[in-house]
Amino acid sequence: MLFKKNPETEPPSDTAFLAWTALDRIGIRQFDEEHKELVNFINQFHEAMVIRRNRVKAEEIFEKLIHATRNHFSNEEALLGERGFPDRASHAKQHSDLVVEITNLHRQFKEGSLSAMMLLTYLKNWLIHHTKESDRQYAVWLKTRGLV
Ligand SMILES: [Fe+2]
Ligand SMILES: [Fe+2]
Repeated sequence: MLFKKNPETEPPSDTAFLAWTALDRIGIRQFDEEHKELVNFINQFHEAMVIRRNRVKAEEIFEKLIHATRNHFSNEEALLGERGFPDRASHAKQHSDLVVEITNLHRQFKEGSLSAMMLLTYLKNWLIHHTKESDRQYAVWLKTRGLV
């Protein structure tokens, strides 16, 4: 028997834009949870904007995504500073560059010169790349020294 999906009641995971499995865990529980939260906000933004076409809701979610991203970055930077990770300055620079880039892209999106899918694709690629490569580097460094 065919099951007809109701878009109002289906959980977001059925239409997820970014699968959590695309991101390998880095093995630091707090940051894995924070990465997962960012993935959830990206998926919620996709669902609100691209599937349900609810721009007001999408804006609310985007603000939460930016807030959670800033918090996550400062949490990582605090730990890297405390533990003396040698590349912490360049890692923090990647974070601050992203915040500037997201702010610019968000402005273009609000002005109508950038599509929701382009904004989402940028966020997705950045999050996967940063987590799998840069975050993994500090995680390996911390773990091999028993610092987490
Ligand atoms: Fe991270
Ligand atoms: Fe990071």
